[in-house]
Amino acid sequence: MARERAYCPYSGFAVGAAVLTASGRVFPGCNVENAAYPATICAERAALLGAYAAGEREIVALAVIADTAGPVSPCGTCRQVLHELAPGCTVALANTSGNIRLTTPQALLPGGFMAEDLPK
Ligand code: THU
Repeated sequence: MARERAYCPYSGFAVGAAVLTASGRVFPGCNVENAAYPATICAERAALLGAYAAGEREIVALAVIADTAGPVSPCGTCRQVLHELAPGCTVALANTSGNIRLTTPQALLPGGFMAEDLPK
């Protein structure tokens, strides 16, 4: 399970993620922290970047799990990255107690910045 591989010596907060692509492959992700805190990579982005690095562009679903009271809430940076890299996917937010919420990148980040917003 990806969450067990989290490297989180600073927060102690382990997060796991998995991305399912249209070809049926599954890419795991976990949070990987750094003593320079902003260099930390969240589990969601680790999973998404793994899929992209393998040449997979069609993301069908992304699941994320942590030990939170309710389904874990992705950070703003992950919402923005998800919005661009996996716009059509189903997002499953979960916690270790079995609570799951299904949502979409659009619902997680209404009005997100888009490539079209950049000047030509
Ligand atoms: N984190 C994630 O990996 N995903 C989330 O959805 C929330 C936050 C990580 C980043 C950092 O390593 C730790 O959780 C505490 O913020």
